[in-house]
Amino acid sequence: MKRILFTGCGGQIGSELTLAFRQIYGNDNVIASDVSDKISTDLRESGPFVHLDVLDKNAIAETIDKYNIDAVVHLAAILSAVGEKNPQLAWNVNINGSVNIFEVAREKKLERILVPSSMAVFGPDTPKENTPQKTVLIPTTMYGVTKVAIELLGNYYNLHYGMDIRGLRYPGIISHKTPPGGGTTDYAVAIYFDAVKQKSYDCFLRADSMLPMMYMPDCIKATTELFQADKNKLKNATGYNVTAFSVTPADVANSIRKIIPDFEITYHPDFRQDIADSWVNSMDDNSAREEWGWQPDFNLDAMTEDIIKEIQLKETSKVI
Ligand code: NAD
Ligand code: SER
Repeated sequence: MKRILFTGCGGQIGSELTLAFRQIYGNDNVIASDVSDKISTDLRESGPFVHLDVLDKNAIAETIDKYNIDAVVHLAAILSAVGEKNPQLAWNVNINGSVNIFEVAREKKLERILVPSSMAVFGPDTPKENTPQKTVLIPTTMYGVTKVAIELLGNYYNLHYGMDIRGLRYPGIISHKTPPGGGTTDYAVAIYFDAVKQKSYDCFLRADSMLPMMYMPDCIKATTELFQADKNKLKNATGYNVTAFSVTPADVANSIRKIIPDFEITYHPDFRQDIADSWVNSMDDNSAREEWGWQPDFNLDAMTEDIIKEIQLKETSKVI
């Protein structure tokens, strides 16, 4: 790859993944973009940034020409909780944004597109435990509907236009650098900040809501590995199950108590509980392991230790 365009770079994943790609491919070869200009100083100062709305196909085409782009990591999206509040917006940004990226990529013969999918492709009829790679995809959220459609559309473009579109079904991604953008798994980020700041957290999911999760360093590792994988080995190109561990809010609270023993948690489930209930408990990611060598590094306790240390450092530096 010579030059890679990132869309949605200001979000939870883009703010870290774009920097990781700059380390690998060179600062000037990774073009960051977002419809929002609120991006981190690190991102803005380490390489090119373009204000880009993925709903503007001409602007995408102009950016690709201007920077001589040959690959796109397309992260711009509306996530599950915001999407259920405004399903028309989720459809518009997720579907039309992806169609614009795929179409410009087809017209300009780009080498590769990576667009994340999500465990939200699953629905109430999907087997909940160790969910297979190939299974029932009938989600009940608009976010899930868009993610299934994008996977299928990517397959269509690969098959009929000989393109190289790849994607992975992320579980909930947990991180401490950039706040998440409005998903159902956001509790698993907020809980750590509240644990450090006030030793308590009021959770919007039930204590026993089991969901697959992953720490950001593993998310970066999985995405980079899939981006770099040999195309000939990819049999499930647009939607690989990937996971690190499955946990409930009660499990996360117990893990935090190993470091902050007097941490307390209360539960007041809201509309996001229905979304979580429609998803699966755990995923079988053997296809990713076999086809491109996926293996996570972090389990729950290792992540908890690292994330609490990082948030404590951040809090201490604020005081000083
Ligand atoms: P986020 O909500 O944190 O960030 C999304 C970014 O997209 C934001 O910076 C926003 O400004 C930008 N955006 C929104 N509309 C846009 C538009 N019209 N044009 C350009 N940019 C626009 O999301 P994220 O968590 O970083 O997710 C990145 C990708 O990973 C998405 O495809 C998401 O569905 C997927 N994903 C994320 C998770 C997770 O837990 N974070 C889990 C599964 C899948
Ligand atoms: N973390 C995402 C969400 O909750 C899953 O795709 O929306």
